[in-house]
Amino acid sequence: MARACILYCWFIVCFALSSSARDVLEDDLYLVGTSIALSNAPNSTTASFDPREATIASVQHALFHQGVSCRTIVQSFLDRIEAYDKQGPYLNAVITTNPNALTYADELDQKLAESGFVPGALHCVPTILKDNYDTFDMPTTGGSLSLKGAQPAVDASAVQRIRAAGAVIIAKANLHEFAISGLTISSVLGQTKNPYDLTRTPGGSSGGTGASVAASFAVMGTGTDTVNSIRSPTSANSLVGIRPTRGLVSRDGIVPLSYTQDAIGPLARTVFDAATLLGVMAGYNPGDNVSALGVGQYQDYASYALQGARNLSLFQGLRVGVVDILVNQTESDPEVYQVNKVFNATLATLNQAGATILHVTDPTLDITHLSAVFDVQIYEFRTELDNYLQNYNGTVPANSLDEIVSQNLYEKGDAYTGAFMRNATVPLNNETNPEYFTRRSGIDGLRTQLALRFAEQNLDVMFYPHQSRLVVPIGSPTQSGRNGLVAALTGLPAIGVPGGFSEPTDTAPIGVPVGVEFMGRPFTEARLVEIAAAFERLTRARRAPLSTWEIV
Ligand SMILES: *[C@@H]1O[C@H](CO)[C@@H](O)[C@H](O)[C@H]1NC(C)=O
Ligand SMILES: *[C@@H]1O[C@H](CO)[C@@H](O)[C@H](O)[C@H]1NC(C)=O
Ligand SMILES: *[C@@H]1O[C@H](CO)[C@@H](O)[C@H](O)[C@H]1NC(C)=O
Ligand SMILES: *[C@@H]1O[C@H](CO)[C@@H](O)[C@H](O)[C@H]1NC(C)=O
Ligand SMILES: *[C@@H]1O[C@H](CO)[C@@H](O)[C@H](O)[C@H]1NC(C)=O
Ligand SMILES: *[C@@H]1O[C@H](CO)[C@@H](O)[C@H](O)[C@H]1NC(C)=O
Ligand SMILES: *[C@@H]1O[C@H](CO)[C@@H](O)[C@H](O)[C@H]1NC(C)=O
Ligand SMILES: *[C@@H]1O[C@H](CO)[C@@H](O)[C@H](O)[C@H]1NC(C)=O
Repeated sequence: MARACILYCWFIVCFALSSSARDVLEDDLYLVGTSIALSNAPNSTTASFDPREATIASVQHALFHQGVSCRTIVQSFLDRIEAYDKQGPYLNAVITTNPNALTYADELDQKLAESGFVPGALHCVPTILKDNYDTFDMPTTGGSLSLKGAQPAVDASAVQRIRAAGAVIIAKANLHEFAISGLTISSVLGQTKNPYDLTRTPGGSSGGTGASVAASFAVMGTGTDTVNSIRSPTSANSLVGIRPTRGLVSRDGIVPLSYTQDAIGPLARTVFDAATLLGVMAGYNPGDNVSALGVGQYQDYASYALQGARNLSLFQGLRVGVVDILVNQTESDPEVYQVNKVFNATLATLNQAGATILHVTDPTLDITHLSAVFDVQIYEFRTELDNYLQNYNGTVPANSLDEIVSQNLYEKGDAYTGAFMRNATVPLNNETNPEYFTRRSGIDGLRTQLALRFAEQNLDVMFYPHQSRLVVPIGSPTQSGRNGLVAALTGLPAIGVPGGFSEPTDTAPIGVPVGVEFMGRPFTEARLVEIAAAFERLTRARRAPLSTWEIV
């Protein structure tokens, strides 16, 4: 009786779409990235669950149609963390596993057995959070020993929304210290490795989330992005990640870096899952006044993902603007050549599908130039972090950036981060410095400049490789060649999707992932998701890493 009702509710809630959309969900999206896993599909009579490459749909199919318990599902992901994070390939991506994860799973199993219960969009979906998202049930360190043991009393509002949708927060992931750089080294945990090539970084700063989602430690996860930090691990781990338009998702309860440039968003293995998580996270909260800009803009992104996946004719006449300056021409460097080869192949695919490839030939969009002239992180970091620490509800071991810098607990093997933090304490670097105002008004100009570039050629999207070289090896001083700053400064939305892989090598048995990025006009996430889902369907470029492929 209860089971019948559950199935009924599931159809009402989750499949309240046209029947053809439902077919796509079951026949196609469920299978995206899971073609290998399928041969090991869970045997319903034994009610086990294979978490590898699992999606929201496959988790919920197991729960609602195969009688697998949420406890079994959550345990299967915990087992993978246990098997691969601090032994074997030793990805070193997880700072804290949630001691309550199985208790939450049991609660969800219980609720599902109650008649009349309507499961949320993320019911029992194991989710990992970057460890700069406040959580009431786990510490939030920002990756820094200076915040070790910091325990917020309340969740960030995005985390509240994720839990309310039924997700199980399974763990907190490593990040580059305070999200300042792109290598994913922190004083709390050290270096996270890339599961596709254990000698390379996973990108960053949300690299712990990226490696974890790639390795199926969770179905999906969250990141923060001040310059590149969602899209860089997205690119380096064959994932989908969304940097939303400034204001779409409230940043309250997130360890801050920059008032102007910070954004938060999802990472997942499929466009549908990333879109679903974005829809859950989007929302206003007065704790972040910028989030007022998003009111009235929210859409059902998941339904646009379905629509895109079933409509490859959307490429007919789609106007795609390649941003030329974001492609490195020095192809004598093999790290560049490999990226260009993949990027060119995606252009050929788009072209074949009917897209019109145009070129944005604006040399001022050069990243080195934009960074030197417009980036405002150094002026905002101290004010923002001090606000966060001084309005803390809970227990936090430091009250200001000055205190953190004087304690000197923050720096491990990464000269850039320490220099940035010390620089941010220099009194001149503050929000009343005239240079800060010059940069803020420069950013306004840049936003108009981008709008013009879209308008001049009537572009639907701009397109470029996220990183113009392969993600850097462990030990490199910085994560060079990334193109995320254009969207980060202007607040435009961008979605990263798998483009392909470099040639295999001894350390990268299936090659290193290469990600491509679509950028749109403000608040066009629905359109971006639709295009990305069609692109995903067309290219099917996502592959799981071999280093964590064995069943545990
Ligand atoms: C599923 O498990 C049952 C019981 O262990 C077994 O009899 C059956 O052959 C299995 N089916 C498949 C497809 O493996
Ligand atoms: C801190 O959080 C607790 C737990 O949610 C809440 O009861 C309390 O009102 C909050 N305190 C402040 C000062 O916001
Ligand atoms: C928004 O909040 C910031 C602090 O985070 C503050 O500096 C700014 O004045 C606020 N703006 C408005 C319009 O309230
Ligand atoms: C597919 O996309 C094209 C172009 O965006 C649109 O004109 C058409 O209506 C779409 N078809 C369906 C079935 O949604
Ligand atoms: C990619 O295409 C561009 C433009 O056609 C060409 O100049 C470049 O050499 C190509 N690179 C690779 C690696 O195929
Ligand atoms: C720190 O400031 C010095 C002096 O202005 C500058 O040369 C250096 O590039 C800055 N480094 C960082 C990471 O901000
Ligand atoms: C902020 O920087 C300006 C220089 O631009 C300086 O005059 C002022 O004293 C600084 N304010 C603080 C609080 O350090
Ligand atoms: C392009 O690649 C070359 C060779 O690796 C490198 O020296 C150069 O800095 C790169 N340019 C950009 C803008 O990243």
